[in-house]
Amino acid sequence: MRINQAERVLEPEDLDHLDPADRHAIRSRADLRRLHWLMGSRGILLRALRRLPRPPRRVLELGAGDGTLMLRVARKLAKKAKMDPAAPWAKVRITLLDQHRVVANETLHAYQKAGWHATPLQTDANQFLGTTAEPAADCQRGSESFHLIVANLFLHHFDKDALRTMLSGAARHCDAFIACEPRRSALALFASHLVALAGANAVTRKDAVLSVRAGFRNTELSALWPSGPGWRLFEYPAGPFGHCFVACRDPAANAP
Ligand SMILES: C[S@@+](CC[C@H](N)C(=O)[O-])C[C@H]1O[C@@H](n2cnc3c(N)ncnc32)[C@H](O)[C@@H]1O
Repeated sequence: MRINQAERVLEPEDLDHLDPADRHAIRSRADLRRLHWLMGSRGILLRALRRLPRPPRRVLELGAGDGTLMLRVARKLAKKAKMDPAAPWAKVRITLLDQHRVVANETLHAYQKAGWHATPLQTDANQFLGTTAEPAADCQRGSESFHLIVANLFLHHFDKDALRTMLSGAARHCDAFIACEPRRSALALFASHLVALAGANAVTRKDAVLSVRAGFRNTELSALWPSGPGWRLFEYPAGPFGHCFVACRDPAANAP
């Protein structure tokens, strides 16, 4: 498939539209768990978390799927906390938002074992963030606020205008934002055609290629983050196939 990497190409992904109980959808979510190992997603997230000025206590994941990627992050941080009781990652509350309810009860128990409290929330991310409301500058921060909003393989589902609105909504609701997305690069595109070698089914094989074509590069996400002072932005290639964006409220800029 030819791709002009200068431009994002957005096409609907099959997993979003399949009934979560459909066996192809179940299998594709299992594929995603395997692909996260290959993409090094957990390490990318852990490194991005180190950029935050302080550890978050209230976290929202957008498009969380089955919630297992952040569970792996929670487990890793719990292990660190065991070795160093002064480590600050404890009693984190995470809301796992997705349009489909696909978080297993075992996953919720596993979060509990890691010392985190996870709550699944089935809703549309745009609705939740109130992104149909006025522009960010005219709004107060929503009553639902989080120290951190995180998105994994999620933002690339949306076009520029939708993203600008969604990121404005996110900025009103959080102190920090992390997104780990596919990188729109020749290498990632090549690899996306090979996911069959990792046992991926037809849904994942198609969605993997579409994800890369809709992925990000350079400072594309920074450009869509609401402009104005008060935020520190980082955007960089992450791992062989990933692209990471981090926004943190700048404590200096927000000082009274
Ligand atoms: C590619 S999957 C990624 C799942 C998970 N974050 C991961 O990395 O394994 C994208 C997820 O976004 C969800 N999604 C897509 N559009 C959404 C929306 N508008 N609101 C909430 N969830 C959405 C889909 O149901 C799906 O679970």
